[in-house]
Amino acid sequence: MRKISILMALLFAQAAKSQNYIVLHASKGKDTINKNIYGHFSEHLGHCIYGGLYVGDKNKKIPNKDGVRIDVINALKKLKVPVLRWPGGCFADTYHWKDGVGSKAQRPSMLNVWWGNVKEDNSFGTNEFLNMCEEIGAEAYLSGNVGSGTPHELTDWVKYTTHPNGSSPMTDYRQANGRSTPWKVGFWGLGNEAWGCGGNMTAEWYANVYKQYATFMTDWSNSDKLYRIASGASDDDYHWTEVLMRDIPLKMFDALGLHHYSVIDWAKKGSATAFTEKEYFTTMQRSLLMEELVTRHSAVMDKYDPKKTKALAVDEWGGWYEVEPGTNGAFLFQQNTMRDAMIAGCNLNIFNNHCDRVKMANLAQIINVLQAVILTDEEKMILTPTYHVMEMYNVHQDATMLPMNVISNDYVLGNEKLQAVWASASKNKGGLTHISLVNIDANKTQDVVIDVDGAAYKNIKGRILTSKKLQDYNSFEKPENIVPLAFNGAQIIGNKLMVKLPPFSVVVLALN
Ligand code: AHR
Repeated sequence: MRKISILMALLFAQAAKSQNYIVLHASKGKDTINKNIYGHFSEHLGHCIYGGLYVGDKNKKIPNKDGVRIDVINALKKLKVPVLRWPGGCFADTYHWKDGVGSKAQRPSMLNVWWGNVKEDNSFGTNEFLNMCEEIGAEAYLSGNVGSGTPHELTDWVKYTTHPNGSSPMTDYRQANGRSTPWKVGFWGLGNEAWGCGGNMTAEWYANVYKQYATFMTDWSNSDKLYRIASGASDDDYHWTEVLMRDIPLKMFDALGLHHYSVIDWAKKGSATAFTEKEYFTTMQRSLLMEELVTRHSAVMDKYDPKKTKALAVDEWGGWYEVEPGTNGAFLFQQNTMRDAMIAGCNLNIFNNHCDRVKMANLAQIINVLQAVILTDEEKMILTPTYHVMEMYNVHQDATMLPMNVISNDYVLGNEKLQAVWASASKNKGGLTHISLVNIDANKTQDVVIDVDGAAYKNIKGRILTSKKLQDYNSFEKPENIVPLAFNGAQIIGNKLMVKLPPFSVVVLALN
């Protein structure tokens, strides 16, 4: 008895010294963390589709199911990918879906003008994508061509994919192409980056174009119940969000997008692996801006939609560096280090904490492009540190978010500082609570005291992702250099949790 109280006194003394102090409001959960916050994005870009997801059904070297890599299918199932956006990105506004259906021998080729002018043979099209989504258990998010397409083309796509058999020539076409029943398409994007590659439009112009497309892709009362996502703002363009909220009737959309990449400098993005601590710090500054972006875009949305019936969909986010030396500059292939694990952990915590408004997020991009969760090289496949963070965090999917107050130490570099500890928590339907914590400090361990208000936990288990160096990554030679390990640095003392977070680490705790 006396032993325990000495231990407790010591721990409390330590806690008092520590400035990392979190209050977990364990009985105040209200909002659900939409599983689609853990969404992904796939574009006809570099080796995301060809070589990454799809190797073709004639491929005898790489095991595949209807052309989709089986190793990738298994990894994505384990990740619990809830939603996958396709076919772009900038590519989407050049894509004509009818070129990608029917007999492969008859499908026309095109040049992929956005991404290296390479030949796109359209062998991976609508049927292949939607069948693949069914296989991995993900909802489909189709990004429609608004920039260079027509309302007619988009309307036909809706009919081809989702309308009942016998209702139009498009559904006959679907059946003739070997699909006997409609697919489910969970989400429709109306253009991509309409302020840039999607047409260089003003917000006012796009709002009108949006309404035209949104009107014809279904009917006035949206009896098809389509979930329509308007092409959203870039970074801190709050004017874009304001105009869309003001000019598009609420009944004509379900979500607004938002794109934000963690880039040091668009003219000098820096290496994905050979970076200094200063470059790491700057990447994290850019990345953590997400907190302010979702707060302020949400505040604009609140003015027009105080009941939060419309979502913010962060449908492109992640780190962006120079391509790997010797690879095609237009293919955006980059390695993935513990820096990316930090980006993933912090951003997912931010999205979880804003789940009253943020209902979807799509990491850019799923394979071989930007902050990928999987990298492939012919028949080899590796999982990146970002994959492991998303897998550790998938326990939050569809759980009830538990609010927290976080007081954190600073991560200081020179004259600048950032919040060191980032956290979120949820309680799942089985009654298990999960807390995800990130220490972004490159050098210092952070001792965190979590005061639990409204619950009494008896059991604690944890997993950690960290490594010796921030610059460490998984390679085809050392695919398991960084993997999640059991975490023993947390304990329950009365109504407090004491957690020791090593430098640049991600920890997920499970409690009941
Ligand atoms: O993800 C790469 C590109 O970044 C996308 O095609 C575009 O939407 C964004 O600018």
